Formats: sequence, C-alpha cells, structure tokens
Amino acid sequence: MLTHLLVVLVISAASCLQSSFVFKHHDNSEVVKELTRIHHECLSITRLYDLNHTSVRGQPLVVIEFSGNPGVHEPLEPEFKYVANMHGDETLGRELLLKLADELCYSFRAGDPETARLIDTTRIHIMPSMNPDGWDAATKAKFDVSSYLTYFTQLTQSTGRENAHGVDLNRDFPDLQRKMHLMLRRSKDSAIHHLFDGDTGRAIQPETQALIEWITSIPFVLSANFHGGALVANYPFDDTNDGSRRQYTPSPDEAVFQQLARVYADNHPQMHLGVSCGFVSDNFTSTGGITNGAAWYKVTGGMQDFNYLASNSLDLTIEVGCEKYPPASELAEEWENNKSPLMEFMWRVHQGIKGFVINALTREPINEAEISVLSGSEGYDLKLPDRAVTTTKLGEFWRILPPGNFTLRVTAAGYETRIIKVRIPEFDKQRGAAREDITLQPKSATGSPKPGVVPTDFSQ
Ligand SMILES: *[C@@H]1O[C@H](CO)[C@@H](O)[C@H](O)[C@H]1NC(C)=O
Ligand SMILES: *[C@@H]1O[C@H](CO)[C@@H](O)[C@H](O)[C@H]1NC(C)=O
Ligand SMILES: *[C@@H]1O[C@H](CO)[C@@H](O)[C@H](O)[C@H]1NC(C)=O
Ligand SMILES: [Zn+2]
Repeated sequence: MLTHLLVVLVISAASCLQSSFVFKHHDNSEVVKELTRIHHECLSITRLYDLNHTSVRGQPLVVIEFSGNPGVHEPLEPEFKYVANMHGDETLGRELLLKLADELCYSFRAGDPETARLIDTTRIHIMPSMNPDGWDAATKAKFDVSSYLTYFTQLTQSTGRENAHGVDLNRDFPDLQRKMHLMLRRSKDSAIHHLFDGDTGRAIQPETQALIEWITSIPFVLSANFHGGALVANYPFDDTNDGSRRQYTPSPDEAVFQQLARVYADNHPQMHLGVSCGFVSDNFTSTGGITNGAAWYKVTGGMQDFNYLASNSLDLTIEVGCEKYPPASELAEEWENNKSPLMEFMWRVHQGIKGFVINALTREPINEAEISVLSGSEGYDLKLPDRAVTTTKLGEFWRILPPGNFTLRVTAAGYETRIIKVRIPEFDKQRGAAREDITLQPKSATGSPKPGVVPTDFSQ
C-alpha cells in the first residue's frame, strides 16, 4: 500500500516536471519565448543574453547560457558553444538546439546526475539562430505557394540561405588562412594563433560582426555550428592552401579534429554510415561520416576556420541531414538521432589537459603564455607548425588532445621557455581533463642562458 502510494507520488512529481516543449518549427518570436520559458524554469543555472549586434532587420541574436554560476567565467571551467541556422534555410539545427536547451533544463530539474555534472563543470552557450532574417525568408518561400513563380524559385535556389543583405554569412568571416600562409612563408617558426587583429579590411555583415566579437571575447575551448543538406561531421581546414576547389587540407590538430568529428558521427545512428544525399562527392562511407572541409569543397571566409585561427576554440561544422528544412513531423525523430551526439560532443570540452601558467617567483598568473605541441604520438607529426593555445587573464589554458604522450612547449614574453612531457589518458567523463599547472621562471636581467632554446630533437 505504501509502495503503491509512493509510486503514485513519484509519477505525479515527474508529470509536474513534464516539459511543455512541442516539436515544430518555431518562428523567431517563438524561439525567444521558448528560451525565456526555459530560463524561468531553470533560473539558477541559466542566463539569456543577446549578442552586441542585431541582424540586418533588427532581430536579436539570442543565446542561452547553462552554467552552475550563470554569467560568470569560473577559473578553469571550460567554455563551450553551439551555433545553428547561420544559413537561414537550414532549420533542423535550430530546432535541435532549442530542444537541447529544453532537455538540459528538464534533465537537471529531474535530478539527472550526469546533466548536473556537465552543467556544474562547463559553461555552455547555445545560439539556435545566427540568421533569423534568413529563416523568415526561407519560411515564407517554403510555405507561400500562391504562385508558380515562388514554386520555381524554391526549386532553383535556397531562399533564405543568406542574410537580408544577400550575403552568405559562412563566407563573410576574415580570411585568416591567407594570413597564416603569408606568415609561414616569411618564417616557418611563426606562432600561429589569434591571427585576427580586429581589422576586417572590408565591410562585414552585422551578424558576422556579432559572432566575431563573441568568439574573441569569451575563451571558448570547443564549439560546433550546424548546417543541413548533407549528413557529415566536417572539420578544419575548410579552405585550401592553393585556392584549388578541393584538396585535403589538414590543420595541425588533424588527429584530435578527426576524433572529435567521430564523436558526433559515431553517436548518430546514420551519420557514421556515410549516407550520401545524392549530391556530387558527398559519399562519406569510407571515412565513417566525417570529412576534412576542404577535401569536400573549399570554403573561404567560413566561421569554422575563423574560430580556429582567431581564438583558442576548436570548431566543427555538423551537417545534420539531407533535407535542409525537414517537415515538422520529422523533428522528434531527428532529436532522438542527435541527442546523444550533441551531449557526447559537449563532454569532449573536458578532454585533454588544462591548468594555470604561473610566475615561479611571485605565483602570479601569466596572461598570453603560449602552449604548443612539439611532438606527440598518434598523428601529431604533420610537419605543420602547431596552432598554440594561449592563457587567459587568469593564466588558464585548456588544450584538447587525443590520448597519448605529448611534448609541449610553454613560452611567455619575459620568461624562460619550458618543455614539458604530458600523458593524456583515454577520455573519461568522471576524470575530465588532466590537470597540469606550469611555473615559468622570469628571465633574469643579467647572465641568464640564452632564452627560449629548444632542444634540436624537438624542432619541427
Ligand atoms: C558586448 O560589449 C561589451 C561592452 O563593450 C563587452 O564587454 C562584451 O564582451 C560584448 N559581448 C559580446 C558577446 O560580444
Ligand atoms: C560510396 O562509396 C563506397 C566506397 O567507399 C561504395 O561502396 C558505395 O557504393 C558508394 N555509395 C554511393 C551511393 O555511391
Ligand atoms: C606513453 O608513455 C608511457 C610511458 O611513459 C608508455 O607506457 C605508453 O605506452 C605511452 N603511450 C603511447 C600511446 O605511446
Ligand atoms: Zn549551411
């Protein structure tokens, strides 16, 4: 009798918590309404904010943040972001991210320990739409079948892909790869990181500007942006070195990018099979549903490469389905397909190594120290100069690495360079990133040995 009563109580408690989320295509005001509802239901772990620029038509670029301490960057807590719908007609990612926000809130309130742990240890930023104007245009074209003209327009072009000025936002970012090549031609030892100096060199769109300021103002560690029209996890570089239309163009982080792409593809019931959507060269069977961006087709001025070369973040481009604008009746099933990939990918922000870089004498944190990989097992032998990560104002660094043994170089202006060896174990959610605090000796004014000498067997 008592157990009976308990069962009834548990069931009614759970139904109180039932989410009111409905699978449908949410218009821009409904997206804000849903995020506001989620925020109110999970006040202690969420914050809503807008980026500093609106879309061309004045719509806000809305972000919901999940964190144990919303609005605050906590020391050594990694920052993560998901962005969808930068192409306004690619709508599945937008609905997936909205549902993800609902799911995080719901699972947290239901007491799911894994969700609680993720939110407690991570600062997660979710932006369902980077191109709300494009979404409006795409939706109008899709459902306005009042004339044949509209019908044929629909068949021949993707209305709403661009922003309201007709610009493809994923071609509008500063081309930092070009800058990287110029630097490397000048000196093979150039430090490759944070290549954006604030000068875009041309007028860029407000949506792009908003994202640039966001990407460069928060120390993101890992991120992904969502597209449609294919089913594949795409990783840098998107741009080719020589301007050719297609050519495998690995980044120094090739090994870990492949691994991260597999986390998404392998957790998805179809993506890892490499299903073709019937377009030219989109058969990813042999690679298990992942691809180097430029090996598929070249994208210059994309957001993924910008993240990689302008910030510490590793960014991937996830194509979540053949149909860019699927019927609403398919959204629930697509959520089931993508739920585990979305969750498992977020967890990987805790893979690798993190710590503080500190002044050995004063114990003060060192800002803008560079941590680069000199050598490592498993694919870190590309003969490319590394893309270093740099420390924050608090002296923190995060470096996502695959399992293996690595030799790192830690440098900072005014300090002796250090070479350290680290061992990265298999990823484990409970353990998270390996912690390694690194002290650097200030260079003494006189009589010090030649600074920054790297043993020759480590040079590349
Ligand atoms: C918005 O602007 C403020 C003030 O300049 C700045 O502190 C903040 O980092 C900016 N936020 C974003 C998301 O760009
Ligand atoms: C895709 O490529 C694989 C080989 O990698 C091949 O066996 C398969 O038939 C191809 N599928 C399509 C639809 O072309
Ligand atoms: C890393 O080094 C340890 C010894 O320090 C060794 O046992 C292990 O096999 C190495 N791992 C790899 C992947 O090389
Ligand atoms: Zn796209």
